[in-house]
Amino acid sequence: MAEAEFNGKEEELKPYLVVDVKEMCKRADALRAQGKRIGLVPTMGALHLGHLSLAIAAKNECDVVIVSDFVNPTQFAPGEDFDKYPRTLDADINLLSKIGADYIFAPKPSDMYPEGFDAKVHVGGVSQLLEGEFRPTHFDGVATVVLKLFNISRADVAYFGQKDYQQVQVVQKMIDDLNVPIQIEMLPIIRERDGLAMSSRNQYLSNEERKEALVLSEALAKAEEMIRAGERDANAIYAEMRAIIESAPSAKIDYMRVADPKSLQPLERVAGNAVVLLAVRIGATRLIDNKIIDRK
Ligand code: PAJ
Repeated sequence: MAEAEFNGKEEELKPYLVVDVKEMCKRADALRAQGKRIGLVPTMGALHLGHLSLAIAAKNECDVVIVSDFVNPTQFAPGEDFDKYPRTLDADINLLSKIGADYIFAPKPSDMYPEGFDAKVHVGGVSQLLEGEFRPTHFDGVATVVLKLFNISRADVAYFGQKDYQQVQVVQKMIDDLNVPIQIEMLPIIRERDGLAMSSRNQYLSNEERKEALVLSEALAKAEEMIRAGERDANAIYAEMRAIIESAPSAKIDYMRVADPKSLQPLERVAGNAVVLLAVRIGATRLIDNKIIDRK
């Protein structure tokens, strides 16, 4: 395809929808050849302000913004919510048009994983803990699709949310270990007014569960308050967090962890910086949240 074909009217139709993997590669190649700095925002769609904050940062820092919108089957285990995961492409396009994202890349699973697809990126260490304990195949699926998206988009920089803190550490480790030529940026968690971290999965919550879901951010706020007040013993912090979370009748804790910010290894005593991470099921909905406790 001639390069000129990529410089036509699609600029007026932002974001320009690309569904074909090869077409996205060619467009990205052409943009690179023009010396454009490409920013990628990988998402599974059902966009909310958390995702948009990433796209806005990309817009501010890059010449071209590609938002991928792909519910990646390989990061869901059997019995997880792949089938019911919200798919709202039209609304996503509408939101991205408001912030001037250039491309929305929404491939079909059969184009990302054609018959005979047989490669996998496995990151050890940091991917085995926490989420990895409860979702053992999850990060293989994430690392593999993220590397594909990096390659397809030819991005210079990719934007990720702190909401999935462990995901960022896994992707960074993949980049370091495999010398992937890309930079990543992690941006803060965007929350609802009452503190609940925005998530596409929040829409699974009933009204009652939505109220109970506040225990996640409340438990993290308590942990931060205790650490800042001088508490060093992780077990003392867990006890207070547990009391808050278990005050919600339908809450079940998968994990709570005060961890080293890089390795995510548990800290028995909080000496320097730490990250507090948790996963809690509210009824049938599994929510995650975290807080970085920076003590410079
Ligand atoms: P998804 O859950 O759609 O999230 C896409 C990106 O948005 C992730 O980097 C996530 O951390 C970020 N994000 C979600 N909620 C946020 C919030 N409240 N504040 C700030 N950022 C938020 O994460 C994935 O998709 C997938 O695993 C993916 C990386 C796309 C691979 O399939």
